[in-house]
Amino acid sequence: MIDSAQTLASDPAALLRWYMDAGVDEAIGDVAVDRFKTPAPVAAPAPIVQRATVTPAAPPAPIAIPDGDASATHLAQAAQTVEELKAAVEAFTGCGLKQFASRTVFADGNPKARVMFIGEAPGADEDRQGLPFVGISGKLLDRMLASVGLSRAENAYITNIVFWRPPGNRAPTDEEIATCLPFVTRHIELVDPAVLVFVGGLSAKTLLAKALGITKLRGQWFEFETPGMSRPVPCTALFHPAYLLRSPQQKRFAWRDLLSIKQKLDSIALV
Ligand code: URA
Repeated sequence: MIDSAQTLASDPAALLRWYMDAGVDEAIGDVAVDRFKTPAPVAAPAPIVQRATVTPAAPPAPIAIPDGDASATHLAQAAQTVEELKAAVEAFTGCGLKQFASRTVFADGNPKARVMFIGEAPGADEDRQGLPFVGISGKLLDRMLASVGLSRAENAYITNIVFWRPPGNRAPTDEEIATCLPFVTRHIELVDPAVLVFVGGLSAKTLLAKALGITKLRGQWFEFETPGMSRPVPCTALFHPAYLLRSPQQKRFAWRDLLSIKQKLDSIALV
């Protein structure tokens, strides 16, 4: 039965029931909306003024660095084997290069080799394969090694001074190199090679801590030593194969340097 309007007005319970029967089961507001009221006049739109808008720059991606040195040193020193060091480098997030790279490029070759080669930075091919020196300059490096009886499959070990490809193949910055350095020096300590060869000027001047170019550093022998090493390691520098591809007339110097490396290895074997 439908209640009369009068009953509804005088009986709130009957009014609620009436609302529920009509499907009104939710309270929206305390004050009723008068939908018949004349709307307030709408303010005229503000005139459009042309002006240069400066879009605020997106906040820069976080770069975890100087403090990366401290954590890199700690992680590197904790590694007791080359495998542990590789795992530590792969898990490390303190180098800004990692965010742009597809793979960590740690090393290739025989970690028990008597000679360890240290290049600069992975390129596109290395980034794809996760191995150092596998592109066109790597092919030349393999031929250079083969000319003195060395190969990564047998008796040579190869790494770089940074473990991730710098975007666009730019040179790694001093900061990126410094961040990776504790891992690189620990790498040398753990491999403990008889002879160390820096491939390219960046690697040579970083690890020799000398402000000289490759033309001055190649053709000479130095000693590399860290507090974690039982003895200094004889080391030398070699023109980078990418440079030799661009300047083939320099190959004769590289050939001399390779012979010198071979002689050094032979002479140490005789001691
Ligand atoms: N150049 C380097 O120095 N290292 C690589 O791994 C590849 C190219």
